Amino acid sequence: MPRIALYPGSFDPPTNGHLSLIQRGLKMFDGLTVAVLRNLAKDKDPLFTVEERVDLLKGAVNGDKRVTVKTFEGLLVKFAKQEKVNTVLRGLRAVSDFEYEFQMANMNRKLDPELETLFMMTGEDYFYISSRFVRDVARLGGDVKGLVPANVLAALQEKFGK
Ligand code: PNS
Repeated sequence: MPRIALYPGSFDPPTNGHLSLIQRGLKMFDGLTVAVLRNLAKDKDPLFTVEERVDLLKGAVNGDKRVTVKTFEGLLVKFAKQEKVNTVLRGLRAVSDFEYEFQMANMNRKLDPELETLFMMTGEDYFYISSRFVRDVARLGGDVKGLVPANVLAALQEKFGK
């Protein structure tokens, strides 16, 4: 049986931090299912639609067959069960991520004790990158080269008319 992990998030937009985690996750798992959430409260004002994010993620992994990009709605535990996956992969950047991630992992474990959350520390080159900052910096005309995959950079430049 191939070992598959679920890598969920909002990915608005995907960053080099996400990509690095995918690449490192693939050293431990045979495949990853990247799952883009559809109904997040912060989705009210998204930069990219869920469909655009799926395309950006697919482009960023450059057709790597080990990576499947899907969307999900509602509870992560339900989607994991539906996908028959029992490991969730998450990146941990810094102390600030810890509390939220700790609560989420414990809530998910309470909802489904079979589901494990596996954390990987973000690489030192990426710990300050977040989708939110990328969105803000790009919106305000700052250069996000090196922070996002090339296809995401092109999509941001198109969106903000550069
Ligand atoms: O990249 P993000 O925005 O930090 O990802 C958060 C995500 C999508 C992993 C999280 O919001 C999630 O799993 N939402 C689904 C709803 C759910 O299962 N909630 C209960 C666990 S707190």
